[in-house]
Amino acid sequence: MCRSRVAFALIALTLTAPVLNAQKIVLSVDASTPGAKIDRNIFGQFAEHLGHGIYDGIWVGPDSTIPNTRGIRNDVVDALKVLKVPNVRWPGGCFADEYRWRNGIGPQRVVTLNPNWGGVVEPNTFGTNEFMDFLNQIGSEAYLSVNVGSGTPREAAEWLEYMTAPPSTTLAKERAGNGHAAPYKVAFLGIGNESWDCGGNMTPDYYLSQLKIYSRFVRNFNPAQQDQQQMLKIAVGPGGGEPRWTEWTETIMKAYQQHTWSWDINGLSMHSYTVVKWPPSYASVGFGETEYSRILKTTLDMEGLISKHSAIMDKYDPQKKVALVVDEWGGWYAPLPGSNPGFLVQQNSLRDAVLTALNLNIFARHADRVRMANIAQMINVLQAMVITDKEKMVLTPTYYVFKMYVPFQDATFVPVAFDAGTYTHGDVTLPRVDAIAARDANGKLWLEITNLDPNESVEIEANLTGISAKSAAGETLTAPKVDSVNTFEAPTGVAPKPVSARVQGSKVTLKLEPKSVTVISIEH
Ligand code: AHR
Repeated sequence: MCRSRVAFALIALTLTAPVLNAQKIVLSVDASTPGAKIDRNIFGQFAEHLGHGIYDGIWVGPDSTIPNTRGIRNDVVDALKVLKVPNVRWPGGCFADEYRWRNGIGPQRVVTLNPNWGGVVEPNTFGTNEFMDFLNQIGSEAYLSVNVGSGTPREAAEWLEYMTAPPSTTLAKERAGNGHAAPYKVAFLGIGNESWDCGGNMTPDYYLSQLKIYSRFVRNFNPAQQDQQQMLKIAVGPGGGEPRWTEWTETIMKAYQQHTWSWDINGLSMHSYTVVKWPPSYASVGFGETEYSRILKTTLDMEGLISKHSAIMDKYDPQKKVALVVDEWGGWYAPLPGSNPGFLVQQNSLRDAVLTALNLNIFARHADRVRMANIAQMINVLQAMVITDKEKMVLTPTYYVFKMYVPFQDATFVPVAFDAGTYTHGDVTLPRVDAIAARDANGKLWLEITNLDPNESVEIEANLTGISAKSAAGETLTAPKVDSVNTFEAPTGVAPKPVSARVQGSKVTLKLEPKSVTVISIEH
């Protein structure tokens, strides 16, 4: 059993045998036993044509008084660049399975509706070229979701030809005529979205037949992506842990095991929101400890869900060639009063910061299988990084956690074993702390520790094996209340502050504030 599994087993143990108010937690950080690479793509984002996610959030148009570059707002681009966003999933979501790419290219855009999300007008002014321009501005890669539900394989194949073919074909010439002569790079291809639900209510077998066809015919012609940097194809996967979802994973992975030269996949998608129960009814602001603890308890279910589907994948793909791609995750709460319910508008609080850290840590512990994830969603929708209102913009607590985790992108997982202790509120008992560690490309050791307890601070003693520390310092994120938020009027109420740690040889000690997320680097 690897050390990370030991750590989780210990957490599980403490849930059944509570330790009385352990104020000091000892971490054993084994820097001599490196684990898997924490793929930077687990820090991916999702931007759907939904509410103000694209329009107003990213796209204001070149004639806007809001400062922009070719219609894309500069403040949002500047904020996102800091996060080193590895990939952006677009154009949906449910929207993708009704999207017609031709409506969003060229000088004359076709105006349609967005029936999934409020039935509002979809001007298609933000289309393929604008999305790729946005990616270029923030320095990210494309994760395109093609329309399987109401489109055709030919339509999807032509979209990819338009985007990736060298300028010799008619479609590539059309792209050049629209301002981009060079082939675009499409790093990831999502074949459908939630095909078991909004993507067409398909059975696993029906979807599998579609998957094979799309995988075969939707080609990437970019000369630079033929050997190195090949486009990775991601199949629709499960949306929960119940039998209908395990059957879905079984069907796709069993077929993968027997696949022939003519089709292939590199990833299986999984969607899991932290909701507690549908429809989402928990408030995103104006809540107390009960809602804080219940949401965190529910979010920790991500661990069991990943383990369950990973075990099925291991049966058919023991070499772990197919990644589990958690391409929709995050907190989904009740719409803010007064907002359009179809726009999925919610606030983003300190609770979301803690929730983010817990999920990123789960992904990191499963780094050998979970090699990509996309939080839902990037701007103004669900658990967003950024909230805008006309010319105003505010960065959320979730944004700051993503920023603090940048050093973990492509770092090597380092096992951390610990007895997490417990925090109890009412009928909810949670691990008191969570932690991960990793070494970056320069060998520097990074440690993340989350204190879930909203009332008690915790003393951390980290004992390092394999390195002798010289100094340690970093940042911590906390706020006065579990539902503290950033607003346009008070934008930095929840923002990271410097934190220092004491170092004695191989021992690092520091104090964690209640309900906090802390990242430190250890010089050695
Ligand atoms: O993120 C919002 C929606 O949630 C997506 O469009 C869909 O895939 C999921 O159900």
